[in-house]
Amino acid sequence: MKFLRRYLLLTLALTLAGCTSSVPPVEADSPDPSPSPTASASESSEPETVPDEPEPTEPAPEPSASAQPSTPPHAPGPNANRDAAPKLADGRVDCSQAQCAALTFDDGPGKYTEQLLDTLKAAGVPVTFFMIGSSIEARPDTVKRAAAEGHALGTHTWSHPVLTKLSEAGMREEMSLPVNALNAIGLQTNMIRPPYGARNEIVDAVADSLGLAEVLWSVDTRDWESLSTPAVISEAVADAFPGSIILMHDVHPTTVAAVPDIITKLEAAGYVLVTVPELLGDSFGAGSTIFSQGQVKAH
Ligand code: NI
Repeated sequence: MKFLRRYLLLTLALTLAGCTSSVPPVEADSPDPSPSPTASASESSEPETVPDEPEPTEPAPEPSASAQPSTPPHAPGPNANRDAAPKLADGRVDCSQAQCAALTFDDGPGKYTEQLLDTLKAAGVPVTFFMIGSSIEARPDTVKRAAAEGHALGTHTWSHPVLTKLSEAGMREEMSLPVNALNAIGLQTNMIRPPYGARNEIVDAVADSLGLAEVLWSVDTRDWESLSTPAVISEAVADAFPGSIILMHDVHPTTVAAVPDIITKLEAAGYVLVTVPELLGDSFGAGSTIFSQGQVKAH
């Protein structure tokens, strides 16, 4: 009892003295509970920060037998190489006769994509975009402009995961949601590029069931790594070959800045720059994985 009374007196004295040091401080401006820095960083992280696709190592396969209806001919601006190239009856460049190559751009649309579209329009060059689903939803006007100006649209999953690490249901969701996002703005697609080129038999089967051709690449500029305009120009031009599919990313300003020179140099070397469906002609379609005009693996 004696001890308790002393304790109570001491407490009273401290309280009267205004001593609050034993009370945990209250931060008037402490933030509301919110996602951890890790969570918010991952939500806002750009797909392009992830080192991208490794070189595919598939052996040269036989041409796909599963021909599907090709995309309609597009209407790019004036382009001497294209104008002079042999054409199919419907106006597509006949890449079985012409020396074709396809420029492709992954991970957009982003804030530099409109600048790229300006460049492509001025040059009369159609390309192929493999777009992230969430970015389609974020920039629908850019996507619609790309389609209206004759570019081919493919998807690149919803959130750029390694598809082979997902369950089949997860793969299906990642691969179908971007298609839905395109459909929601009145557009269609029949091709997908798996992030990092990561695919297996299950990815192939899901792509087949969704009616999506898998488009990989045969020239990797590694533009995400160099982040150098001269390096991107040199990689794209030096490694191009007839029938090649050239991988770049339109989320990097260094890449977008390289495109005018890449076009000039490839056209000077005799290339007709076409979309991937145009490159493949009537052999383009689901049920296959495409690395180049001459390297198409039927599933
Ligand atoms: Ni990517």
